[in-house]
Amino acid sequence: MHVLGIETSCDETAAAVVNEDRRILSNVVLSQIDEHSPYGGVVPEIAARAHVAHLDRLIAQAMREAGIEYADLDAVAATAGPGLIGGVMVGLVTGKAIAAAAGKPLIAVNHLEGHALTARLTDDAAFPYLLLLVSGGHCQILLVEGVGKYRRLGTTIDDAIGEAFDKTAKMLELGYPGGPAIEKVAADGDPNAVRLPRPMKGRKGCDFSFAGLKTAVLHVLKKEPDIPPADLAASFQAAVVDVMRDRLQNALNWAALEVPDLRHVVVAGGVAANEALRAGLQEAAGAAGLQMLAPPIELCTDNAAMIAWAGLERFRLGLTDDLGAEARPRWPLDPDAAPKPFAGVRA
Ligand code: KG4
Ligand code: ZN
Repeated sequence: MHVLGIETSCDETAAAVVNEDRRILSNVVLSQIDEHSPYGGVVPEIAARAHVAHLDRLIAQAMREAGIEYADLDAVAATAGPGLIGGVMVGLVTGKAIAAAAGKPLIAVNHLEGHALTARLTDDAAFPYLLLLVSGGHCQILLVEGVGKYRRLGTTIDDAIGEAFDKTAKMLELGYPGGPAIEKVAADGDPNAVRLPRPMKGRKGCDFSFAGLKTAVLHVLKKEPDIPPADLAASFQAAVVDVMRDRLQNALNWAALEVPDLRHVVVAGGVAANEALRAGLQEAAGAAGLQMLAPPIELCTDNAAMIAWAGLERFRLGLTDDLGAEARPRWPLDPDAAPKPFAGVRA
């Protein structure tokens, strides 16, 4: 069984082929970072145009590297949301065209489901597991119970975690994307140099908030403009890790009562690249007797292998879509989740 995956929901143009033996036959990703970095963030119009310019070539490359023809595919999976709508439309329409031309079923994949199921592609993770999805656009804790079965335990009530890294890096003039820059600079700083708030820490539930932390960094910079950026970056990173651990702990406490067969904690999304965060989460998971799984970085950040895999998981359950499938800017994984800022778990 071979599935082609297409991902265009943000600033990565990507195509990949996977098979049911969890083998990634090709995984091509073109980052648009250089095109967006002069603006300090992703510009939707530029992203959509770049997807149009490069997607055909990347799909051809992914098929060539996989060594298969369109006729050999069993299905075509394309991200149908959530994300920047112009980009999502480019990828979805391309996926529909290939599916129609090759006479193959289409699977309209939720990008978040791609992240959520990656640990099954990389580690064959059994359900159920806790997922921390930490990226530039999302910050959520989910219970993954099965394909299409997700319970959102918490989400951010303001900025996503990666956004907080990016905005803080901007204030510190470290460039874009900010997460890797902060981590690098923080390595030489003192995480206890500056006292920063830990938003939501100690509160019930698993929701997050990062806007106050960002504002606190701004105040520090105004009051002490000469503060070493390394110290501020390290202090910021320590505060984020502290908050994430606290939120995960609440999810673990809840799961200890409600999900007795829980085995894993999985981290996914671009911020999962952060070593300090991984270490903090690993400690909390380990203390609860759970194994932490973190897919390799290139499968944590946006890619099409995860879309192909989510498509494959859906396809083998008979979950295909018709060519009328719509592109969706918003598409929560858990349809029952309360809208922000009221979502949360009674931990
Ligand atoms: O998952 P991703 O590639 O794209 C989406 O947002 O969907 O995540 C990108 C985010 C950016 O905000 C970036 O600053 C952050 O992940 N990031 C990091 C690190 N590497 C990437 N944040 C903290 N530490 C890192 N090492
Ligand atoms: Zn993503």
